[in-house]
Amino acid sequence: MKKRILVSGGAGYIGSHVTVELIAAGYDVVVADNMSNCDRSCFDGVRQITGRSELPFVEMDFCDAAAVERLFSRYKIDAVIHFAAFKAVGESVAEPIKYYRNNLLSFLNVLEAARNHGGCNVLFSSSATVYGEADKLPVTEQSPRLPATSPYGNTKQICEDMLRDAIAADPSIRGIALRYFNPIGAHPSVLIGELPRGVPNNLVPFITQTAIGKRACLSIFGNDYPTPDGTCLRDYIDIVDLAQAHVCAVTRMVEGRMKEGYEIFNVGTGRPVSVAELVTEFEKVNGLKLNYKFADRRPGDVVAIWADTSRANEELGWKAKRTLAETLASAWAWEKHLAEQ
Ligand code: WQD
Repeated sequence: MKKRILVSGGAGYIGSHVTVELIAAGYDVVVADNMSNCDRSCFDGVRQITGRSELPFVEMDFCDAAAVERLFSRYKIDAVIHFAAFKAVGESVAEPIKYYRNNLLSFLNVLEAARNHGGCNVLFSSSATVYGEADKLPVTEQSPRLPATSPYGNTKQICEDMLRDAIAADPSIRGIALRYFNPIGAHPSVLIGELPRGVPNNLVPFITQTAIGKRACLSIFGNDYPTPDGTCLRDYIDIVDLAQAHVCAVTRMVEGRMKEGYEIFNVGTGRPVSVAELVTEFEKVNGLKLNYKFADRRPGDVVAIWADTSRANEELGWKAKRTLAETLASAWAWEKHLAEQ
């Protein structure tokens, strides 16, 4: 019997790539999304890549407890991967209540439904933002979580704790939190990728939109940081590599190979890259010149963060494979594909 995985927020950037990899690995998938921050085209792209025109899609809001309950009654779910959440750091500072309501309530409903249905494997989509400005780099899963600097970051910490506590009280629930570093790039088919609404906050979409002419100039936020070239260091992880980490984690859960009821894994490359390096690599790989300038530091940015990935490498048997060059080529291919639409 094929195992069935529910992907909440499965029409979004990460969820769509994860759905593709789950299907490639032989799982049955049910995608559910309220379409609040994505486009129908991404789900169509998933159907096209996988050749599954009948792939189940449920349009619903995970804040609606009755709807989540109905979903768990309708399908026997072996594991749920929970992506359905808001994710803009700046917006979360301006609208904290909206963020706490959406991100916490939706996850609460998932946990409650998991419990009501005799337990479930739960994979939570967390973030390296929980480490804040770490004292020691690279960060391991044991590195301390620092007080969150935004409501968005706080919702990630609280949801991790909700999962941990639910598991401690009820062994029929098991869970993994994956802490993502900076996911970038697009599927090689260019049928799915990131679709930022309005002006992108994240670096790579801003770069590709500048390269295509949608934005006049990239501002590099700060060149006086205590790093080799003065710009911030991050761990940019290819979206397909990231998606494959989910397959490894889900398989570990459904095959009963977890060593503890609740486990945490960093999902990154282990390779720090500066903003300036990323820009130079983008120019080189794609054979173009980017219009950019140095600007003031962006409030709230950490100087440097990258992952110690040993635990994911050893326990999940997963390792990031794509080079930064391949990933940046895919990001540019996706932007050009969008421009042709
Ligand atoms: C990367 C670097 C910027 C834009 C955020 C969230 C995190 C996560 C991923 C989300 C920084 C610099 C950026 C620009 C720039 N999760 N930059 N010019 O801040 O590391 O992480 O996104 O869902 O939780 O905090 O990513 O892509 O915004 O920035 O110079 O126009 O690029 O200062 O050093 P960040 P980012």
